[in-house]
Amino acid sequence: MFPENIAERTRRDFPLLNSISGQQGLIYLDHAATSQKPQSVIDSLEHYYKNINANVHRGAHQLSAKATDAFEGARQIVGNFIGANSFREIVFTRNATEGINLIARSWGDSNLKEGDEILLTVMEHHSNIVPWQLLSGRTGCLVKYVGLTPSGELDVDDFCEKLNEKTKLISLVHISNTLGCCNPISEITSKAHKYGALVLLDACQSLAHQPFDVGSIGVDFLVGSSHKICGPTGVGFLWGREHILEAMPPFLGGGEMIQDVFLDRFTSSDLPHKFEAGTPPIGEAIAMGTAIQYLELIGLENIRDWEHKLMEHLFEKLSQINDLRVLGPTPSNEKYRGALATFSVEDIHSNDLASLLDIAGICIRSGHHCCQPLHRHYGLTGTARASLSFTSTIEEIDLFIDELCSSISFLRKNS
Ligand code: ALA
Repeated sequence: MFPENIAERTRRDFPLLNSISGQQGLIYLDHAATSQKPQSVIDSLEHYYKNINANVHRGAHQLSAKATDAFEGARQIVGNFIGANSFREIVFTRNATEGINLIARSWGDSNLKEGDEILLTVMEHHSNIVPWQLLSGRTGCLVKYVGLTPSGELDVDDFCEKLNEKTKLISLVHISNTLGCCNPISEITSKAHKYGALVLLDACQSLAHQPFDVGSIGVDFLVGSSHKICGPTGVGFLWGREHILEAMPPFLGGGEMIQDVFLDRFTSSDLPHKFEAGTPPIGEAIAMGTAIQYLELIGLENIRDWEHKLMEHLFEKLSQINDLRVLGPTPSNEKYRGALATFSVEDIHSNDLASLLDIAGICIRSGHHCCQPLHRHYGLTGTARASLSFTSTIEEIDLFIDELCSSISFLRKNS
């Protein structure tokens, strides 16, 4: 069936997409860096600060009770969104990066020792590399990397070769922010669990783009960021299996994460508050819940199908440009692929392309996209990336391609 043009019914919800840049409307093709926010999310933040701003879990007054209800309501929304078994499994963090650091510090420090191994992949974002390098420095555990196939996907054979009884954790991205490939997580988890290894999934680039259920893919930890799913910045979440979180020591110390404090010791709160030291981003967490409700109203299947159509069109157009190389797999009906295209053009710097496109009111990302090891793997210092969302249109892609071709000609003439 022909997918519904979701952009037609959602675009007007996004104030920034309707603002004017130069002569034409803004063309925002940097959704993988951060998503735009619908009016309902902006309203939700405003409503919180205007009407129910109070600290949570602390006050006897009614305002605090209201704020607490809304905050804990957002936790339920997040839990239902990813298919968690219990609200106790959802920990609010600052972002996905903090979620990964929490696991590395809390689970990693108390479970790993010299000789143990962690498996990552070459396509990981720096946020899923550096915390493990730091952990390796503290514990002596070894960090190993799974390679890629020639088509720019995870090399499952290499994964199988590197997985062994010393492997304690596999931490990988669901959809690569650069290659766009969608990793075979169920297959990875079932193999990992045979060796008793846990799996941590960075779902930042997938949660707003396709239906998701943590139970069916079998991972043990998952991290996400609100700002990638139409919510505000400053908040994200970690999901973990309850018994694993239960056994982990606290990450940060302070108010909220304690039950009792004495001069020489403390006892921790129950889950999930054990991992939430200090006043949390209350309004932001509530607005993240609003963002999730907004996505659910559109329907994640509808989003997936519309973005797939957009992406096929984008790839078709890019394939007609000489000397342009797209990283990662080509879209196909058989295998889901993230709605983004990362590319390099021979002898042209990605920053020059992005700057010229910006003059035309088109936002793309250029550089290493927080994936320097991946770029080194391809012998590149940087690439350009156009990333889509359900608000993107075929017309926007066509305008982008026209401007891209003009920019390439201009740069070639003036080099
Ligand atoms: N991880 C974000 C990106 O891919 C920042 O642009």
